[in-house]
Amino acid sequence: MADNPQLSKDLRRVLIDEKTIADRVNELAQEINMRYKDSEEPLILVGVLKGSFIFLADLSRRLTIPHIIDFIAISSYGKKGDQRGEVRLLMDTRENLAGHDVLIVEDILDSGSTLSYLIRTFKARNTKSVSTAVFLDKPARHEVDIDIQFKGFEIPDVWVVGYGLDYKERHRTLPFIAEMIPEN
Ligand code: IMP
Ligand code: MG
Repeated sequence: MADNPQLSKDLRRVLIDEKTIADRVNELAQEINMRYKDSEEPLILVGVLKGSFIFLADLSRRLTIPHIIDFIAISSYGKKGDQRGEVRLLMDTRENLAGHDVLIVEDILDSGSTLSYLIRTFKARNTKSVSTAVFLDKPARHEVDIDIQFKGFEIPDVWVVGYGLDYKERHRTLPFIAEMIPEN
């Protein structure tokens, strides 16, 4: 896999291939179906733009429970060259979340500032519950403690692209997760 001739020059290797992703997303959907099977109101899936759009599309199409799709957009300001710091809501959900089970769908958990902000924000809206589905997790990077209910894969502290994730808007639509070669 390391010497994949199809891989563009700025990519080091495939970390998670298409089949492995599909199998794991299936499993996550089953877990979510089980968890919410007795809910009276539809589950609201809130995708965090843009990175989560492919994960959200695949996951939601495997759900058999009633659900509603919604999105939010956020931006994070931090120290130069760092993801850390303040999170700001650029676009809110269209749905009123009050009284609903909410599942935040995020591409990757890095420092945790995005998810901790979102969990806090949504809990303050009289939601029935707020949970998180995260496709990738970089445990080595956490700065805040976050409880993840549905997690795809843990990965090392490297920059990854594909399956919705980008580097400067590149490589988002690769069907697999690949490790970038850092630019210097
Ligand atoms: P956090 O708020 O530090 O947890 O940052 C999470 C956000 O950083 C994610 O939603 C991604 O947009 C971005 N991010 C962190 N690591 C990566 C990566 O390896 N590839 C692409 N985006 C990443
Ligand atoms: Mg991003």
